[in-house]
Amino acid sequence: MAGNRTFTMIKPDAVGENNIGAITKMIEEGGFRIVSMKMTKLSEERAGQFYAVHKERPFYKDLVAYMSGGNIVAMILEKDNAVEDFRKLIGATNPADAEEGTIRKIFATSIEANAVHGSDSDENAQIEGSFFFADIEKF
Ligand code: TYD
Repeated sequence: MAGNRTFTMIKPDAVGENNIGAITKMIEEGGFRIVSMKMTKLSEERAGQFYAVHKERPFYKDLVAYMSGGNIVAMILEKDNAVEDFRKLIGATNPADAEEGTIRKIFATSIEANAVHGSDSDENAQIEGSFFFADIEKF
């Protein structure tokens, strides 16, 4: 059975462009309940850990520099079928390929500066939520 929680980050490009409110509104209107939420900044080391699965990819170094270059907003979200439904709401990794009306189509400026993160599995949603939030912050 699909889980009912996912994890997202509003990335530095979208925070810098003052799009926190607009993106959060789309998330809530998409039927997701915000369970946990905080603004923070990733160090290079923490950004590297978060994206460790991409360590060998050519874009890794730039991605880590970008993700640690500004504030992010981390959230745990709740909805039936959360992981899959949220991936639909954000659209494809590259905004050029994202469907009309998706968060990345509207707010992303490039494949790297793509406005939001969304977990790709129930297992990663759990791991990523715990990367940012203590158990007592997961309501
Ligand atoms: P990935 O896990 O493939 O995408 P998604 O975020 O949609 O799950 O990649 C993680 C992040 O790495 C992606 O959001 C942006 C960045 N990235 C690049 O900068 N260049 C690339 O060619 C790819 C594939 C990803």
